[in-house]
Amino acid sequence: MRIAVAGGTGLTGRHVVEIARRRGHDAVPLSRYGGVDLVSGAGLPQALVGADTVIDVSNIGSIKTDVAVSFFAGATRNLLATERKVGVTHHIALSIVGVDAAPEGYYAGKLSQERIIEAGDIPWTIQRATQFHEFAALMFDTAKAGPMHLAPRARTQPIAVREVAEHLVTLAEDGPGGRVRELAGPREESLADMVRSYARAIGHRGWIPEVSLPGALGRAQRNGSLLPQNDPILGRQTFAEWLAALPDG
Ligand SMILES: NC(=O)c1ccc[n+]([C@@H]2O[C@H](COP(=O)([O-])OP(=O)(O)OC[C@H]3O[C@@H](n4cnc5c(N)ncnc54)[C@H](OP(=O)(O)O)[C@@H]3O)[C@@H](O)[C@H]2O)c1
Repeated sequence: MRIAVAGGTGLTGRHVVEIARRRGHDAVPLSRYGGVDLVSGAGLPQALVGADTVIDVSNIGSIKTDVAVSFFAGATRNLLATERKVGVTHHIALSIVGVDAAPEGYYAGKLSQERIIEAGDIPWTIQRATQFHEFAALMFDTAKAGPMHLAPRARTQPIAVREVAEHLVTLAEDGPGGRVRELAGPREESLADMVRSYARAIGHRGWIPEVSLPGALGRAQRNGSLLPQNDPILGRQTFAEWLAALPDG
């Protein structure tokens, strides 16, 4: 099967491309680096020729509502319109558990992506997953007050990105499934503890205060709305195992 992977050079996308190829598929990564811009549409028709399935794991690193909505809505509309023209028969998108509990900022973008796919006419699958283990590193790098790192208070059930990528390729092989069972890691963790453990693992010795993030997202993080709800599929690798496997230094 020919699988176009939107965002195929990113954290998730690299695993999806490698796993799909290992399973004998023809996997084509789409990224600006490779000459395809999902938002302007440049290079997209050529890149999708012959594709049976699109797995969308593209991303934008902004928490601003207008930026996130413009990216996810724009990229999804361009993908679906081009898929219709070239005959793609299955669109798969990776979304996040609990996005509707806090439809603001980045999550507003993900929700707009889901709604456009559901309303479209390309047969689809939406896979929601919880935070990846790497989310601890992202929070360590970005949640800061001046030079001080912060540990956001949140309940999460983090999963290995590799396991998410394995599922996405299986979904491509299975065909359109609509909303499929959520994916989550094997156990609930405290995000603040994850950030502090990550910091220690990379040699950071400073104090990292725990903070409550404001707004609907902060509330959803604390009250468990971002935990999986109905009979999720559970991954195997724990956060502690992920941490132990980090390269030294
Ligand atoms: N991180 C988590 O905890 C988590 C949990 C659940 C779901 N997700 C979802 O997983 C998805 C993938 O996240 P990730 O962290 O793996 O992404 P990532 O590492 O940030 O990679 C983003 C990819 O998108 C491409 N891209 C960005 N803008 C583009 C554009 N205009 N045109 C074409 N390609 C573009 C990038 O390549 P170029 O820069 O070369 O264009 C890159 O390949 C996201 O949709 C996210 O919502 C993430």
